[in-house]
Amino acid sequence: MIKLNHITKIYMSSDRRFYGLRDINLTIHQGEILGIVGHSGAGKSTLLRCINLLERPTEGQVCFDGQELTTLSNADLRLVRRQIGMIFQQFNLLSSKTVFENIALPLKFAHYSKSEIQTTLLPLLKLTGLTDKQLAYPAELSGGQKQRVAIARALASQPKVLLCDEATSALDPETTLKILQLLKEINLCFEITIVFISHQIEVVKTICDRIALLDQGSIVEVADIVNFFTAPKSDLAKKLVSLSLKHELPSLLKNRLSPEKKMGSHAVLRILFQGHVAAEPLIAHVMREIGIHLNILQANMECLKDTLLGIMVVEVMGDQDSLPQGMQYLIDKGLHVEMMGYINESII
Ligand SMILES: Nc1ncnc2c1ncn2[C@@H]1O[C@H](COP(=O)(O)OP(=O)(O)OP(=O)(O)O)[C@@H](O)[C@H]1O
Ligand SMILES: [Mg+2]
Repeated sequence: MIKLNHITKIYMSSDRRFYGLRDINLTIHQGEILGIVGHSGAGKSTLLRCINLLERPTEGQVCFDGQELTTLSNADLRLVRRQIGMIFQQFNLLSSKTVFENIALPLKFAHYSKSEIQTTLLPLLKLTGLTDKQLAYPAELSGGQKQRVAIARALASQPKVLLCDEATSALDPETTLKILQLLKEINLCFEITIVFISHQIEVVKTICDRIALLDQGSIVEVADIVNFFTAPKSDLAKKLVSLSLKHELPSLLKNRLSPEKKMGSHAVLRILFQGHVAAEPLIAHVMREIGIHLNILQANMECLKDTLLGIMVVEVMGDQDSLPQGMQYLIDKGLHVEMMGYINESII
Protein backbone atom coordinates (compact mmCIF):
# COMPACT_ATOMS: atom_id res chain seq x y z
CA MET A 1 0.00 0.00 0.00
CA ILE A 2 2.82 2.40 0.90
CA LYS A 3 6.26 1.83 -0.50
CA LEU A 4 9.25 3.87 0.51
CA ASN A 5 12.06 3.48 -2.01
CA HIS A 6 15.58 4.63 -1.20
CA ILE A 7 14.39 7.51 1.00
CA THR A 8 17.24 9.74 2.13
CA LYS A 9 16.82 13.00 4.01
CA ILE A 10 19.79 15.31 4.34
CA TYR A 11 19.69 18.36 6.60
CA MET A 12 22.21 21.13 6.01
CA SER A 13 23.52 22.99 9.03
CA SER A 14 26.44 25.44 8.82
CA ASP A 15 27.75 23.77 5.66
CA ARG A 16 27.61 20.31 7.22
CA ARG A 17 25.45 17.60 5.73
CA PHE A 18 23.51 15.60 8.30
CA TYR A 19 21.73 12.42 7.29
CA GLY A 20 18.33 12.41 9.02
CA LEU A 21 17.42 9.31 6.99
CA ARG A 22 19.67 7.05 4.98
CA ASP A 23 18.44 4.92 2.08
CA ILE A 24 15.20 3.71 3.69
CA ASN A 25 13.35 0.92 1.89
CA LEU A 26 10.14 -0.09 3.57
CA THR A 27 6.78 -1.50 2.50
CA ILE A 28 3.72 -0.85 4.66
CA HIS A 29 0.98 -3.40 4.06
CA GLN A 30 -2.73 -2.66 3.77
CA GLY A 31 -4.50 -3.14 7.12
CA GLU A 32 -1.43 -3.72 9.28
CA ILE A 33 -0.23 -1.86 12.34
CA LEU A 34 3.44 -1.14 11.78
CA GLY A 35 5.53 0.11 14.68
CA ILE A 36 8.58 2.27 14.05
CA VAL A 37 10.90 2.23 17.03
CA GLY A 38 14.30 3.64 17.80
CA HIS A 39 16.12 5.91 20.21
CA SER A 40 15.48 9.63 20.37
CA GLY A 41 16.94 11.26 17.26
CA ALA A 42 16.93 7.98 15.26
CA GLY A 43 14.77 9.58 12.56
CA LYS A 44 11.31 8.20 13.41
CA SER A 45 9.37 11.46 13.08
CA THR A 46 11.32 12.40 9.96
CA LEU A 47 10.40 9.07 8.39
CA LEU A 48 6.74 9.42 9.33
CA ARG A 49 6.61 12.95 7.90
CA CYS A 50 8.17 11.69 4.67
CA ILE A 51 5.19 9.34 4.20
CA ASN A 52 2.78 12.24 3.64
CA LEU A 53 5.53 14.55 2.36
CA LEU A 54 5.22 16.99 5.25
CA GLU A 55 8.95 16.46 4.95
CA ARG A 56 10.30 16.23 1.40
CA PRO A 57 12.92 13.52 1.10
CA THR A 58 16.20 14.63 -0.46
CA GLU A 59 16.21 11.44 -2.51
CA GLY A 60 13.85 8.54 -3.10
CA GLN A 61 10.20 7.90 -3.82
CA VAL A 62 7.06 7.50 -1.75
CA CYS A 63 4.43 5.36 -3.46
CA PHE A 64 0.91 5.44 -2.01
CA ASP A 65 -1.59 3.06 -3.61
CA GLY A 66 0.56 2.98 -6.73
CA GLN A 67 0.87 6.79 -6.97
CA GLU A 68 4.32 8.34 -6.77
CA LEU A 69 3.73 11.23 -4.35
CA THR A 70 6.96 13.13 -4.95
CA THR A 71 5.87 13.90 -8.52
CA LEU A 72 2.34 15.17 -7.68
CA SER A 73 1.24 18.80 -7.92
CA ASN A 74 0.36 20.51 -4.62
CA ALA A 75 -3.37 20.22 -5.41
CA ASP A 76 -3.12 16.47 -6.10
CA LEU A 77 -0.96 15.99 -3.02
CA ARG A 78 -3.63 17.70 -0.90
CA LEU A 79 -6.19 15.18 -2.17
CA VAL A 80 -3.93 12.24 -1.32
CA ARG A 81 -3.22 13.69 2.13
CA ARG A 82 -6.93 13.43 2.96
CA GLN A 83 -6.40 9.69 2.87
CA ILE A 84 -3.58 9.94 5.40
CA GLY A 85 -4.58 11.04 8.91
CA MET A 86 -2.02 12.00 11.51
CA ILE A 87 -1.95 12.32 15.31
CA PHE A 88 0.80 13.66 17.54
CA GLN A 89 2.05 13.51 21.13
CA GLN A 90 0.95 17.11 21.80
CA PHE A 91 -2.56 16.63 20.27
CA ASN A 92 -2.42 19.89 18.19
CA LEU A 93 -6.01 20.98 18.89
CA LEU A 94 -7.33 24.50 18.32
CA SER A 95 -7.99 25.89 21.81
CA SER A 96 -10.61 28.41 20.63
CA LYS A 97 -12.78 25.70 19.07
CA THR A 98 -15.02 23.12 20.71
CA VAL A 99 -14.48 19.37 20.44
CA PHE A 100 -17.10 19.19 17.67
CA GLU A 101 -15.53 22.09 15.74
CA ASN A 102 -12.04 20.63 16.07
CA ILE A 103 -13.17 17.28 14.68
CA ALA A 104 -15.18 18.97 11.91
CA LEU A 105 -12.22 21.06 10.74
CA PRO A 106 -10.93 18.79 7.93
CA LEU A 107 -14.50 18.45 6.62
CA LYS A 108 -14.99 22.21 6.64
CA PHE A 109 -11.78 22.61 4.63
CA ALA A 110 -13.15 20.01 2.20
CA HIS A 111 -16.39 22.08 1.88
CA TYR A 112 -18.75 19.50 3.41
CA SER A 113 -22.26 20.79 4.15
CA LYS A 114 -23.46 21.19 7.75
CA SER A 115 -25.65 18.11 7.54
CA GLU A 116 -22.85 16.03 5.98
CA ILE A 117 -20.58 17.11 8.82
CA GLN A 118 -23.22 16.19 11.38
CA THR A 119 -23.77 12.74 9.82
CA THR A 120 -20.05 12.01 9.64
CA LEU A 121 -19.24 13.22 13.14
CA LEU A 122 -21.96 11.52 15.18
CA PRO A 123 -20.56 7.96 14.83
CA LEU A 124 -17.02 9.27 15.34
CA LEU A 125 -18.01 11.00 18.58
CA LYS A 126 -19.60 7.76 19.70
CA LEU A 127 -16.59 5.64 18.72
CA THR A 128 -14.20 7.91 20.60
CA GLY A 129 -16.51 8.28 23.61
CA LEU A 130 -16.82 12.04 23.19
CA THR A 131 -20.55 12.47 22.59
CA ASP A 132 -20.99 14.14 26.00
CA LYS A 133 -17.96 16.36 25.48
CA GLN A 134 -18.71 17.70 22.01
CA LEU A 135 -19.36 21.25 23.26
CA ALA A 136 -16.34 21.34 25.59
CA TYR A 137 -13.13 23.23 24.78
CA PRO A 138 -9.71 21.50 24.76
CA ALA A 139 -8.72 23.21 28.04
CA GLU A 140 -11.61 21.39 29.72
CA LEU A 141 -10.38 17.93 28.65
CA SER A 142 -7.94 15.38 30.07
CA GLY A 143 -4.92 14.28 27.99
CA GLY A 144 -6.66 11.06 26.96
CA GLN A 145 -9.79 12.95 25.91
CA LYS A 146 -7.68 15.42 23.90
CA GLN A 147 -6.01 12.54 22.07
CA ARG A 148 -9.47 11.07 21.37
CA VAL A 149 -10.45 14.37 19.76
CA ALA A 150 -7.27 14.28 17.66
CA ILE A 151 -8.04 10.69 16.63
CA ALA A 152 -11.65 11.55 15.70
CA ARG A 153 -10.39 14.57 13.71
CA ALA A 154 -7.88 12.40 11.88
CA LEU A 155 -10.63 9.89 11.06
CA ALA A 156 -13.14 12.52 9.90
CA SER A 157 -11.91 12.50 6.31
CA GLN A 158 -12.09 8.68 6.29
CA PRO A 159 -8.40 8.07 5.72
CA LYS A 160 -6.88 4.80 4.62
CA VAL A 161 -3.85 5.33 6.81
CA LEU A 162 -3.33 6.79 10.26
CA LEU A 163 0.15 8.02 11.16
CA CYS A 164 0.74 8.23 14.93
CA ASP A 165 3.79 10.10 16.19
CA GLU A 166 4.32 9.26 19.89
CA ALA A 167 0.53 9.37 20.27
CA THR A 168 0.57 7.96 23.79
CA SER A 169 3.85 9.36 25.10
CA ALA A 170 2.18 12.20 27.02
CA LEU A 171 -0.37 9.92 28.68
CA ASP A 172 -0.36 7.91 31.90
CA PRO A 173 -0.17 4.08 31.56
CA GLU A 174 -3.90 3.49 32.06
CA THR A 175 -4.93 6.13 29.52
CA THR A 176 -2.24 4.81 27.15
CA LEU A 177 -3.87 1.37 27.26
CA LYS A 178 -7.29 2.86 26.49
CA ILE A 179 -5.94 4.81 23.51
CA LEU A 180 -4.12 1.71 22.22
CA GLN A 181 -7.36 -0.24 22.54
CA LEU A 182 -9.17 2.45 20.55
CA LEU A 183 -6.50 2.37 17.82
CA LYS A 184 -6.75 -1.44 17.61
CA GLU A 185 -10.53 -1.12 17.27
CA ILE A 186 -10.15 1.47 14.50
CA ASN A 187 -7.68 -0.77 12.71
CA LEU A 188 -10.05 -3.74 12.91
CA CYS A 189 -13.39 -2.02 12.25
CA PHE A 190 -12.30 0.31 9.43
CA GLU A 191 -9.30 -1.69 8.16
CA ILE A 192 -7.22 1.44 8.50
CA THR A 193 -3.50 0.89 8.18
CA ILE A 194 -1.69 2.36 11.18
CA VAL A 195 1.93 3.46 11.38
CA PHE A 196 2.74 3.85 15.04
CA ILE A 197 5.92 5.55 16.18
CA SER A 198 7.17 5.21 19.70
CA HIS A 199 10.43 5.15 21.59
CA GLN A 200 8.65 2.88 24.10
CA ILE A 201 8.95 -0.71 22.97
CA GLU A 202 6.46 -1.68 25.71
CA VAL A 203 3.76 0.30 23.94
CA VAL A 204 4.65 -0.98 20.49
CA LYS A 205 4.54 -4.63 21.51
CA THR A 206 0.93 -4.41 22.65
CA ILE A 207 -0.42 -3.06 19.38
CA CYS A 208 1.83 -3.72 16.37
CA ASP A 209 1.84 -6.56 13.85
CA ARG A 210 5.35 -5.67 12.63
CA ILE A 211 8.23 -3.57 13.85
CA ALA A 212 10.78 -1.52 11.92
CA LEU A 213 13.78 -0.57 14.03
CA LEU A 214 15.58 2.65 13.16
CA ASP A 215 19.07 3.63 14.26
CA GLN A 216 20.86 6.81 13.18
CA GLY A 217 18.61 7.26 10.17
CA SER A 218 18.86 3.68 8.89
CA ILE A 219 16.53 0.73 9.22
CA VAL A 220 18.43 -1.98 11.05
CA GLU A 221 15.68 -4.58 11.27
CA VAL A 222 12.12 -5.20 10.10
CA ALA A 223 10.24 -8.21 11.43
CA ASP A 224 6.83 -9.35 12.55
CA ILE A 225 6.31 -8.82 16.24
CA VAL A 226 6.84 -12.43 17.32
CA ASN A 227 10.01 -12.87 15.24
CA PHE A 228 11.33 -9.55 16.47
CA PHE A 229 10.97 -10.68 20.07
CA THR A 230 11.94 -14.33 19.67
CA ALA A 231 14.79 -14.00 17.17
CA PRO A 232 16.15 -10.43 17.12
CA LYS A 233 19.08 -10.13 14.71
CA SER A 234 20.74 -6.76 15.22
CA ASP A 235 22.57 -5.86 18.45
CA LEU A 236 20.15 -3.00 19.06
CA ALA A 237 17.10 -5.25 18.68
CA LYS A 238 18.68 -7.84 20.99
CA LYS A 239 19.25 -5.15 23.61
CA LEU A 240 15.72 -3.77 23.34
CA VAL A 241 14.17 -7.22 23.50
CA SER A 242 16.30 -8.26 26.45
CA LEU A 243 15.29 -5.14 28.38
CA SER A 244 11.66 -5.47 27.41
CA LEU A 245 11.24 -9.16 28.16
CA LYS A 246 13.20 -8.70 31.38
CA HIS A 247 15.17 -11.83 30.62
CA GLU A 248 18.35 -10.28 31.90
CA LEU A 249 19.48 -12.79 34.51
CA PRO A 250 19.94 -11.80 38.16
CA SER A 251 23.61 -10.84 38.67
CA LEU A 252 24.12 -13.68 41.16
CA LEU A 253 23.47 -16.14 38.36
CA LYS A 254 24.97 -14.11 35.51
CA ASN A 255 28.32 -13.79 37.27
CA ARG A 256 28.55 -17.55 37.63
CA LEU A 257 27.86 -18.31 33.96
CA SER A 258 30.84 -19.43 31.96
CA PRO A 259 30.96 -20.02 28.18
CA GLU A 260 32.99 -23.23 28.68
CA LYS A 261 31.74 -26.60 29.69
CA LYS A 262 33.72 -28.11 32.58
CA MET A 263 33.54 -31.40 34.44
CA GLY A 264 30.35 -31.46 36.46
CA SER A 265 29.02 -28.14 35.12
CA HIS A 266 25.37 -27.69 34.15
CA ALA A 267 24.11 -26.02 30.97
CA VAL A 268 21.77 -23.04 31.31
CA LEU A 269 19.20 -22.61 28.53
CA ARG A 270 16.77 -19.85 27.64
CA ILE A 271 13.59 -21.25 26.14
CA LEU A 272 11.01 -19.13 24.36
CA PHE A 273 7.66 -20.52 23.32
CA GLN A 274 4.45 -19.18 21.87
CA GLY A 275 1.17 -19.52 23.72
CA HIS A 276 -0.17 -22.42 21.68
CA VAL A 277 2.59 -24.78 22.88
CA ALA A 278 2.30 -23.65 26.50
CA ALA A 279 -0.43 -26.21 27.03
CA GLU A 280 1.74 -29.13 25.89
CA PRO A 281 3.78 -30.84 28.58
CA LEU A 282 7.01 -30.58 26.57
CA ILE A 283 9.29 -30.02 29.52
CA ALA A 284 7.87 -33.06 31.29
CA HIS A 285 8.41 -35.09 28.10
CA VAL A 286 12.06 -34.04 27.80
CA MET A 287 12.63 -35.07 31.39
CA ARG A 288 10.84 -38.39 31.12
CA GLU A 289 11.87 -39.56 27.63
CA ILE A 290 15.29 -38.02 27.20
CA GLY A 291 16.47 -38.21 30.76
CA ILE A 292 17.59 -34.63 31.37
CA HIS A 293 16.14 -32.69 34.27
CA LEU A 294 15.27 -29.04 33.87
CA ASN A 295 15.36 -26.85 36.92
CA ILE A 296 13.40 -23.65 36.22
CA LEU A 297 15.38 -20.59 37.32
CA GLN A 298 13.21 -17.88 35.79
CA ALA A 299 9.83 -17.88 34.04
CA ASN A 300 7.64 -15.19 32.59
CA MET A 301 4.70 -14.77 30.22
CA GLU A 302 4.42 -11.80 27.82
CA CYS A 303 1.62 -10.66 25.54
CA LEU A 304 2.73 -9.54 22.05
CA LYS A 305 -0.32 -8.05 20.38
CA ASP A 306 -2.49 -11.20 20.22
CA THR A 307 0.24 -13.77 20.90
CA LEU A 308 1.33 -15.10 24.26
CA LEU A 309 5.07 -15.59 24.60
CA GLY A 310 6.54 -17.69 27.38
CA ILE A 311 10.13 -17.21 28.50
CA MET A 312 11.95 -19.66 30.72
CA VAL A 313 15.53 -19.97 31.91
CA VAL A 314 16.40 -23.49 32.99
CA GLU A 315 19.39 -25.24 34.44
CA VAL A 316 19.98 -28.66 32.89
CA MET A 317 20.63 -31.31 35.47
CA GLY A 318 21.01 -35.03 35.10
CA ASP A 319 22.46 -36.65 31.98
CA GLN A 320 24.34 -33.79 30.21
CA ASP A 321 25.23 -36.05 27.27
CA SER A 322 21.55 -36.12 26.28
CA LEU A 323 21.43 -32.31 26.18
CA PRO A 324 21.76 -31.95 22.35
CA GLN A 325 18.95 -34.46 21.88
CA GLY A 326 16.76 -32.62 24.39
CA MET A 327 17.44 -29.25 22.77
CA GLN A 328 16.64 -30.66 19.33
CA TYR A 329 13.37 -32.10 20.61
CA LEU A 330 12.27 -28.68 21.87
CA ILE A 331 13.42 -26.92 18.66
CA ASP A 332 11.49 -29.47 16.57
CA LYS A 333 8.41 -28.61 18.61
CA GLY A 334 8.79 -24.96 17.53
CA LEU A 335 10.45 -23.58 20.67
CA HIS A 336 13.42 -21.22 20.52
CA VAL A 337 16.23 -22.67 22.58
CA GLU A 338 19.37 -20.69 23.32
CA MET A 339 22.45 -21.90 25.18
CA MET A 340 23.40 -19.23 27.71
CA GLY A 341 26.45 -20.92 29.19
CA TYR A 342 27.39 -23.26 32.02
CA ILE A 343 27.44 -23.08 35.78
CA ASN A 344 29.71 -25.19 37.88
CA GLU A 345 27.23 -26.41 40.38
CA SER A 346 23.54 -26.28 40.87
CA ILE A 347 22.11 -22.92 41.88
CA ILE A 348 19.89 -24.59 44.43
N1 LIG B 1 14.46 20.46 10.44
C1 LIG B 1 15.59 19.87 10.85
N2 LIG B 1 16.80 20.45 10.64
C2 LIG B 1 17.94 19.81 11.01
N3 LIG B 1 17.99 18.61 11.62
C3 LIG B 1 16.82 18.01 11.86
C4 LIG B 1 15.56 18.60 11.49
N4 LIG B 1 14.57 17.76 11.85
C5 LIG B 1 15.18 16.68 12.43
N5 LIG B 1 16.52 16.85 12.43
C6 LIG B 1 17.50 15.89 12.96
O1 LIG B 1 17.24 14.61 12.40
C7 LIG B 1 17.43 13.58 13.38
C8 LIG B 1 16.17 12.75 13.47
O2 LIG B 1 15.14 13.54 14.06
P1 LIG B 1 13.70 12.96 14.38
O3 LIG B 1 12.89 14.07 14.94
O4 LIG B 1 13.19 12.28 13.18
O5 LIG B 1 14.05 11.89 15.51
P2 LIG B 1 13.07 10.96 16.35
O6 LIG B 1 13.53 9.56 16.16
O7 LIG B 1 11.65 11.27 16.02
O8 LIG B 1 13.40 11.39 17.85
P3 LIG B 1 12.40 11.55 19.13
O9 LIG B 1 12.18 10.15 19.68
O10 LIG B 1 13.21 12.36 20.09
O11 LIG B 1 11.14 12.22 18.69
C9 LIG B 1 17.78 14.29 14.68
O12 LIG B 1 19.17 14.22 14.88
C10 LIG B 1 17.34 15.71 14.46
O13 LIG B 1 18.17 16.63 15.15
MG1 LIG C 1 10.04 12.09 17.04
